[in-house]
Amino acid sequence: MEKDFLWWRDGVIYQIYPRSFADSNNDGIGDLQGIISKLDYLADLGVDALWLSPIYPSPDRDFGYDVSDYFDIDPKYGTLADFDQLVSEAHKRNLHIILDLVLNHTSDQSEWFKQSRSSKENPYRDWYLWRSAPKGQQPNNWHSVFGGPGWQYDAATGEYYFHMFVPEQPDLNWRNPQVYQKMMDVFRFWLERGADGFRLDVFNEYFKDAQFRDNPPKLGIRAFDAQVHKYDVSQPEMFTALKDIRTILDSYPERYAVGETFLASTEEAAAYIGPNKLHAGFDFNFLSCPWNPQRFLKVIMKWDSLLAEDAWPNYVLNNHDQRRSASRYGQGENDERLKVAATLLLTLRGTPFLYYGEEIGMRNVPLKRSELQDPVGIRFWPIPVGRDGCRSPMQWNDHKNAGFCETMPWLKVHPDFVIRNVTAQQAEPDSLLHFYKKLLAIRKATPALQKGSFVPLTYEPRRLLAYLRQDAEQTVLVVLNFGKRKVRFAAGPRLRGDWQLLLSNKRSSVPAIKDGWLPLMGNEASIYIRKS
Ligand code: GLC
Ligand code: CA
Repeated sequence: MEKDFLWWRDGVIYQIYPRSFADSNNDGIGDLQGIISKLDYLADLGVDALWLSPIYPSPDRDFGYDVSDYFDIDPKYGTLADFDQLVSEAHKRNLHIILDLVLNHTSDQSEWFKQSRSSKENPYRDWYLWRSAPKGQQPNNWHSVFGGPGWQYDAATGEYYFHMFVPEQPDLNWRNPQVYQKMMDVFRFWLERGADGFRLDVFNEYFKDAQFRDNPPKLGIRAFDAQVHKYDVSQPEMFTALKDIRTILDSYPERYAVGETFLASTEEAAAYIGPNKLHAGFDFNFLSCPWNPQRFLKVIMKWDSLLAEDAWPNYVLNNHDQRRSASRYGQGENDERLKVAATLLLTLRGTPFLYYGEEIGMRNVPLKRSELQDPVGIRFWPIPVGRDGCRSPMQWNDHKNAGFCETMPWLKVHPDFVIRNVTAQQAEPDSLLHFYKKLLAIRKATPALQKGSFVPLTYEPRRLLAYLRQDAEQTVLVVLNFGKRKVRFAAGPRLRGDWQLLLSNKRSSVPAIKDGWLPLMGNEASIYIRKS
């Protein structure tokens, strides 16, 4: 029999950037004990799972996305014992733990890479992608997405190694059977330690063309964009790997894998999801949606239509790589639009992903060039400015450094923490935080909002979105006004009958539907349920 509530499908996932969440020992860097101390906060918020950005030993050339040991915890975050404690404390509160696995590349400080680069005869040589080239040339025309050629010359052996990201992130050779087996061991290791799931970093980048053929040219401004990424990403071998990964996951109860596709269209992202493949994947199109209901609806309809019957959608407004939604949509310190966005995210058919601080409307922190930490920002400033802006310390209260730590935090705290913080919003009944909490509670208590079908009632909307979420027992109506002016929504025959208000940021009772029109206030987000 199918379980009623499946955590990764019917629940809500909250991403933590561990460096910036909570610092327990005052060294300016968040850590596992910090997260443990906030589990009650997270359980009370009402989420079901925590995805932690990487916590393995790392020299931090890409803040944890350059792993030097897959089988340990970085001392700045704690120990394996702290991890075990985190898992058991989280599980006590019905919170699941999702680890971020970065298996496309390691750090150049990984023991494997140190061995590999030491000589051509070393047993680890073939664990990475080594090629030779005539002096002054590159092995082929592949580039690094972070800028410059994808090949780095290594004087010790006179050959080049490939890196899709910074040179300190050499790509592994997934075609080597030992590498492949080792990667499968990484999954087993963390499953045995109690991890409930994984977020797979740039998983469709694992395999490259076996012959290292040149990518064909196309028009583009940056060198990286001036080629079709035919041979350096999305190779068919990935499907075999996903099958093996899935077999391992399925040998444990209720485990989960969500994949971060790299340079993939929505169609390609969708093709990686299903039985024998990933449980879920990301379509990142919400992250670049302008504040326009029609654009959001297009993204939703496309993602939903491309996914197979047995695949499950998910939606995300924020992550550690993109400008925060509060900066994209918020107006000054006004959070009205953020309530509309939150209602959308948490009432769609698909797993919502939240990003730490989203629940209090944290904005991107403004930084001077000298304050940057992200290698991408340091290299390309001012276009792009890098990803630090969305990674600033969590704003817990109005004490020094927002209550994150007493000393200098690794990255500047947003100066608005004096008014925008968890404690202040807990005390304010109309705050964004309370609104998120109510949304999470309503989603959890309303099966139609989890598994019900999604029926749009607006087709080419200019100002509002309206849709139903329906299952055999319940019909829920969601209406969202993207504009600041009052509007009326043509309440067709489907809206006949009696409705009850579940939640609204603008009203406390069901309005009268006059002459077939449902009124909406400016920036109203309301959820109604049909009375049975
Ligand atoms: C993913 C991560 C990003 C990282 C990159 C390389 O895109 O989200 O933060 O820099 O992979 O691992
Ligand atoms: Ca710390």
